[in-house]
Amino acid sequence: MNNFKTLVVVGSQWGDEGKGKITDYFSQQTNVVVRFSGGDNAGHQINFNGQKHKVRIIPSGIFNKNVINIIGNGCVINLQQIVDEFELIKQSVKDYGTLLISNRAQLVLPYHIQIDTAQEEAKGDKKIGTTKRGIGPAYQDKASRIGVRLGDLAIPNFKERFKEIHSYQKDFLKKMYNIEIEDFETTYNELIVNYEKIKEHVIDTGEYIEAAIKEGKKVLFEGAQGAMLDIDHGTYPFVTSSNCSASNVATGSGIGFKYINKILGVVKAYSTRVGAGGFPTELLNEIGDGIRERGNEYGANTKRPRRVGWIDAVALRYAIRTSGIDALFITLLDVLSGLDEIKICNKYLLNGREITNMPATTEEYEQCEALYVSTPGWSEDITGVTSFDELPDAAKNYIKLIEKICEVDVVGFSVGPDRTQTVLLDQVF
Ligand code: GDP
Ligand code: IMO
Ligand code: MG
Repeated sequence: MNNFKTLVVVGSQWGDEGKGKITDYFSQQTNVVVRFSGGDNAGHQINFNGQKHKVRIIPSGIFNKNVINIIGNGCVINLQQIVDEFELIKQSVKDYGTLLISNRAQLVLPYHIQIDTAQEEAKGDKKIGTTKRGIGPAYQDKASRIGVRLGDLAIPNFKERFKEIHSYQKDFLKKMYNIEIEDFETTYNELIVNYEKIKEHVIDTGEYIEAAIKEGKKVLFEGAQGAMLDIDHGTYPFVTSSNCSASNVATGSGIGFKYINKILGVVKAYSTRVGAGGFPTELLNEIGDGIRERGNEYGANTKRPRRVGWIDAVALRYAIRTSGIDALFITLLDVLSGLDEIKICNKYLLNGREITNMPATTEEYEQCEALYVSTPGWSEDITGVTSFDELPDAAKNYIKLIEKICEVDVVGFSVGPDRTQTVLLDQVF
């Protein structure tokens, strides 16, 4: 371990593990919080002082006055969303943190949202179930080198440059999807109006982050989505369009990987998935329905019901490898109260063969049958628990079993959505 005070918080399943809650929890003793990937496809709910707050693109440290919150270069950003979200935060909390945005972040433009919808429609029953926030198309344009970066808006000939891009998009999208995009002047004017509102927040954030780390400041890198939605390592093609694993922290923040000290994987005490794709531990029965209701498993912003299943240690061990996770933080443990038994998937059965690693193709993944180990459940309400010792024995055993099967330590657990319903077992930061 190096001496830098940095912590990465990433999702180790299919998103919605409670990364926002855990980031907010650690933000109380952090100087800088950085989002390094994704866009407003993320949705985090953060509860404190009897109030519920939601963020999509602004880092979850924003509810702490002394925290500098950074949207890094690896993110794709919808300026209208940033303006609206920040306005809402300012209205709902008195002591909000500072916001900085990378001049290298790529813009999500109105036509990206139209393309997202058109591409999903064109896929018919093979659709991914995207959030329709234009995330995939914005990353496509980034890779195709026809994207617009936030810093571009400050250059004198931006209008001409953007006009060329817009004109190309207009023709291409008409031919490809028969889409009429908004006229240039409207898109350009909206962009400039929003840019004027946020321009004093725009800097070279990589430079800022490195300087903060070198000064000994505590810097937390907040993941969006989860390991199984990573474009390289997730259940492709049912993934998002960015690397949401910890491996993208350096690229998505503009710093070297040598500054990364510790990687924390947030994991639900069970699994959920929004959108399509293989899900071997899915519970299509009353146990799953009960977990969905108790865990309020409906999208924080979209309200989409989430698919629910047992925890999947095959996928988790894979996430631990692909994200280099040092320790796990278990969330929503309280939701499992009241079950006679709890299962952990330890292997898959594929074509009559037991496997312990993730297959690469979606065709194979969809054929995997989950094989389980079982452990007794508990009936007690644990939402008021403040230490490991106070947990029922069965809950202690469940945590220990996860540690044993995944071969990493569990350094904390969460027993309710509120900031205070968080138990830290070991110093991580
Ligand atoms: P994120 O995207 O990873 O930040 O997660 P979301 O915010 O989308 O989804 C997690 C949901 O679980 C939110 O509604 C949280 O308020 C809630 N939550 C987080 N931790 C706990 C917990 O320990 N228990 C319960 N019951 N809810 C929790
Ligand atoms: P947080 O940060 C859960 C899923 C979508 C879809 C796929 C691709 O809240 O954990 P996209 O719009 O990114 O092109 O959609 O990825 N997805 C998420 N699922 N939590 C998220 O974020 C997600 N972000 C994207 O449902 O299946
Ligand atoms: Mg979420």
